Amino acid sequence: MLTMKTLILPIDPTAPDPTAIRQAAVVLQHGGLVAFPTETVYGLGANALDAEAVQRIFAAKGRPAYDPLIVHLAGPEALPAVGVEIPPLAETLAAQFWPGPLTLVLPRGPRIPLAVTAGGPTVAVRVPAHPVALALIRAAGFPIAAPSANRFGHLSPTQAAHVLDDLEGHIDMLLDSGPTPVGVESTVLSLVTPVPTILRPGGVSRESLVAVLGQVDVSGHVFTAEEVVPSPGALEQHYAPRARLTLYQGSRQVVLQAMHAAAVQLVAAGQRVGLLLAEGDAVAFAGLSVTVQSIETAGGLEGAARQLFTALRALDRAGVTAILARDFGARGLGLAIRDRLTRAAAGNVVKVG
Ligand code: TXA
Ligand code: MG
Repeated sequence: MLTMKTLILPIDPTAPDPTAIRQAAVVLQHGGLVAFPTETVYGLGANALDAEAVQRIFAAKGRPAYDPLIVHLAGPEALPAVGVEIPPLAETLAAQFWPGPLTLVLPRGPRIPLAVTAGGPTVAVRVPAHPVALALIRAAGFPIAAPSANRFGHLSPTQAAHVLDDLEGHIDMLLDSGPTPVGVESTVLSLVTPVPTILRPGGVSRESLVAVLGQVDVSGHVFTAEEVVPSPGALEQHYAPRARLTLYQGSRQVVLQAMHAAAVQLVAAGQRVGLLLAEGDAVAFAGLSVTVQSIETAGGLEGAARQLFTALRALDRAGVTAILARDFGARGLGLAIRDRLTRAAAGNVVKVG
């Protein structure tokens, strides 16, 4: 594929420099690709109304054309302009959660190119809660289609360096605002099903959706490539690190014991073992020759979500051949973390007492 020079512009996350924003908007207006921060992860943006520009996203990511993109708007008032009708439920949700990490799947509007929706009758839309993303959409003057700014199947980028690792030379510009504050991708909620259905758990918790909607389904099934894929991101083995990952679920003590036993065996077999733990867990592995990444769990799972992908990338970079990861429960952001780790494990999940 064609390589180009990627221009990197550092930009303040709270008060973005209008000149840098204008420069990025011009790239988008010419059909180019700009990686930019959102509150969840970095996105790889193109003009959502320009089918050719949208095709470039798929090429740069190595993403199959059957996987549709999220359209990012500056506000819900932009929906009618692209022909997307807002059902009453979407209005309620938008009032409550936008700007923020909630993506709504709605019937596609006529101005949305089929390249964006992978030929499908629905479109995913969201209003990101990041000053840089919002300023960029406004300056561009059109909605921005953006998947996470990683090679297809890799971990989503929560820092500019992650974007460069995957896409340097394949994108025109990168706006670097430092680490993204949420760290896991948006919750994808379908409003075209009889009951609103979470297709991908993410930054807005199931509990907070239930509080507003009363009833929410979670498509609990992890789809394989052979099956019909309601949300193609729900493909197994998405979000994968390079090393083989095993996820341990159960009560903390039993999980740590099982992980310890497995680590001892793997090390004895000559494997280089990486552990994904919560702060405070590492003492259970003292004396073992393993690489540890501990993520923050004090006072809720916000810290853990923010650090998750950076920790997994760090284990990959350390050259480990096997990753043992613990589960963080299903409450709040725990569900999104469990979802990403389950996919990274490609079904390799150990359930203990
Ligand atoms: O937080 C996020 O959502 C980030 C930032 C950049 O906004 N974006 C992101 O995009 O994670 P991506 O493309 O990596 O994941 C979007 C997910 C995929 O699982 C895709 O299959 C699903 O949303 N999706 C997109 N359009 C859809 C549609 N019309 N119906 C069902 N699922 C859809
Ligand atoms: Mg992605």
